Amino acid sequence: MELKIELTTAPKELPNQDALGFGRIFTDHMFEMDYEEGKGWHNARIVPHHDFNLNPANATLHYGQAIFEGLKAYRTPDNRITLFRPTENMKRLNNSARILCVPEFDEEFVLDCLKKLVAIDERWIPSKPGTSLYIRPYIFSTDPYLGVSVGKQYKMAIILSPVAAYYAAGFAPVRIKVEDKYVRAVIGGTGEAKTAANYAASLHGDYVAHQEGFAQTLWLDGIERKYVEEVGSMNIVFKINGEIITPELTGSILPGITRKSVLEVVRSWGMKATERRITIEEVFEAAKNGTLEEAFGTGTAAVISPVGELCWKGESIIINGGKTGETAQKLYDTITGIQTARLEDPFGWVIEVPKA
Ligand code: COI
Repeated sequence: MELKIELTTAPKELPNQDALGFGRIFTDHMFEMDYEEGKGWHNARIVPHHDFNLNPANATLHYGQAIFEGLKAYRTPDNRITLFRPTENMKRLNNSARILCVPEFDEEFVLDCLKKLVAIDERWIPSKPGTSLYIRPYIFSTDPYLGVSVGKQYKMAIILSPVAAYYAAGFAPVRIKVEDKYVRAVIGGTGEAKTAANYAASLHGDYVAHQEGFAQTLWLDGIERKYVEEVGSMNIVFKINGEIITPELTGSILPGITRKSVLEVVRSWGMKATERRITIEEVFEAAKNGTLEEAFGTGTAAVISPVGELCWKGESIIINGGKTGETAQKLYDTITGIQTARLEDPFGWVIEVPKA
């Protein structure tokens, strides 16, 4: 398929790198591609960033057939542009597509378009440590139809946003509420897809947790409210007695790319890393007997986010004195070092984007 390119005639002013925050500033261009039953994916284009013109009956607004991805472009100290494991994001988006009955797309072609888009908006990639250009590919149904059914028309888009840390507190340890009433996902549902529905399901619990002064919610399994799942904006990892433990992928947890990378990195350091079901009771018990050394979240937006406190049914545990643990710090330095090519990449995870 051909990729059409229309450049903006009104480039925007670049934002102050000290005040990027997360996800509110957008670059000059975006990628779009449409799907129609019988015609397939067509009309791939890079165009000026713009609003969509939506039919009020747009099926996504009513029934949520929407999937997305998150990855980042980095500026290296010698001014090259890198992406971290982008083929994994393409694979995961197609996996989400299968779960949500969205038509699959050509991963190689879309990744190529994504690289071209990043190269065109290269001046937006910030250079300050801890910043990057967040890339949001997504697909949603565009059928103007109020019947509940799988769509026949879709739009794929990729938008770009220069960002700093996801949490307002930056890399500082966050306070997290373990949710014992609401659930995010259940096995057999959409939990492992990156789909709007999972985030919608988390909003009320997150809202209550914020009102109570917590930064995020740690979700438990939807059936027994017993096993640790994930935080919604990131996967969760514990260090207990020197061993790295993260919940295994049961189908209701997002298969995080940073999660997978963390497991590979710590194993390369000779540490034991285990994926298994872990109960919240075990985590609290380990805190009480002094073997819970660290807890941290992993994600594209969150990178590595230390957890300083967990509160479950009104009982709190303070982890590592509420401070960033040495493994979380070392992982943050290693993963961001590899992403920005400040460190060697022994895993072959980083690819360079050719400049426009
Ligand atoms: C990401 O880490 O890219 C995410 O999608 C998490 C969140 C911003 C929804």
